[in-house]
Amino acid sequence: MDGNSEVNIGLMGLGTVGGGVAAALSGNADAIRRKTGRTVRLRKALVRDTAKARQPVPPPGVLTTNPEDILNDPEIQIVVEMMGGDSPAGSYLERALTAGKHVVTANKEVMSRRGPALQSLAQSQGVNLLFEASAGGGIPIVGCLMSQLLANDIRSIRSIINGTTNYILTRMARSQTPFAEALIEAQDRGYAESDPTNDVEGIDAAYKLSVLGSLAFHQPIPHHVIHTEGISRLAPEDFRYAAELGYAIKSLAIAVAEPDGSVQARVHPALVPDDHLLAKVDGVYNAVEVTGDLCGQIILHGQGAGRDATTSAVMGDILNILRTIDNDAGPPPMPGIAGADDPEGLLLPIDELSSAYYLRLTCADQAGVLAQIARILGDGNISIATVIQKDTDPGSGTAQLVITTYPSRESDVQTALAAVAELGVVVSVNNLIRIEQ
Ligand SMILES: NC(=O)c1ccc[n+]([C@@H]2O[C@H](COP(=O)([O-])OP(=O)(O)OC[C@H]3O[C@@H](n4cnc5c(N)ncnc54)[C@H](OP(=O)(O)O)[C@@H]3O)[C@@H](O)[C@H]2O)c1
Repeated sequence: MDGNSEVNIGLMGLGTVGGGVAAALSGNADAIRRKTGRTVRLRKALVRDTAKARQPVPPPGVLTTNPEDILNDPEIQIVVEMMGGDSPAGSYLERALTAGKHVVTANKEVMSRRGPALQSLAQSQGVNLLFEASAGGGIPIVGCLMSQLLANDIRSIRSIINGTTNYILTRMARSQTPFAEALIEAQDRGYAESDPTNDVEGIDAAYKLSVLGSLAFHQPIPHHVIHTEGISRLAPEDFRYAAELGYAIKSLAIAVAEPDGSVQARVHPALVPDDHLLAKVDGVYNAVEVTGDLCGQIILHGQGAGRDATTSAVMGDILNILRTIDNDAGPPPMPGIAGADDPEGLLLPIDELSSAYYLRLTCADQAGVLAQIARILGDGNISIATVIQKDTDPGSGTAQLVITTYPSRESDVQTALAAVAELGVVVSVNNLIRIEQ
């Protein structure tokens, strides 16, 4: 292929991101030619409904509802999958790679569920499989982990990688808005889907952490073994009390390499010290903090979703492929995700986590309550760091007790908490939130 030859692209999905990619392929064609020496052509775009109004209007003959028009077309060298979901997208990608086509995808679910298998397939076929937009949207974290940070022994990833939950938590913190109201507001603004389960229950973040953690630690981290908690239990008073203690509350996706070779991987709300950069990431923004032995601590901050930001990541992958498409040696070996005999066995169970905790209880407002609770925590090897009594309610004779602990073992805390909940003076255990130091 000479330097000006045409490269044909098959786009699977022409929605929010696919539409942005189609617009960039045509609108930026000259810049793409200058930067890569290639002329790109959108040959086919797979959709469900060809009658739908689309902007920009696709050229005649481009739309199709038949995936075979892309998968069986030998003239299409790059398949760009922007459909989402595991099925049928995952099997289409497998077929595209098997047919020797390069693949770009933004699909976190497919990369989380099938990443290692698809990477091996791409490797054996001598083609690229690039997936920058699958975690972090417009933040170039995947490429960083795959190349620029490759020399590092990565110690940890701490991230805010779901804009919907971060928007809701920001509203709850700033305006003392209850969770249900903040969720409706996010839906009204188009930040949350009508079924918000994947976002608010942490499932979306677990898919993305699976992708990032697997790249960082060079072993598969299946999303289903990542400890995942949502944000629906948080109440406005948690934000108020956390602020008094010097913390923000964020939903974090965390992966940490333990000295014994195991990996902690978890998604849950956490108290983050006010002076940490992650505490300042507000609204729909995302941020990923990576700590490596050589690079130290790096934080990438930006738009984790949205048409333009995600298109930036997808187009970056396409341009990278265009620059190397004729390299006879094929793409360099993928550093990503090696196989592991027992990937689940490498993950540290949440019971074995050591963390500090924030605990909020509603208790009888009477003498001796704290002593009873402190005795149970002490017997469970849990040291109390601070105690504050808040919001006394003379009507019900109750008060809120907010306790923070020094680092303790998760299983000890859960056992002690179950015993605390049984005390006659404890009306309810309202929340237990890990504190990231
Ligand atoms: N939106 C973001 O900000 C963002 C950010 C990062 C990553 N991503 C990822 O990017 C991908 C696309 O997201 P999106 O927001 O652009 O989705 P979207 O707006 O819902 O668009 C999906 C597109 O795929 C087509 N499609 C879906 N299922 C299909 C099927 N079975 N057969 C044929 N066509 C099918 C749809 O066709 P019709 O148009 O005919 O319905 C539509 O054009 C997902 O993997 C998502 O996780 C999105």
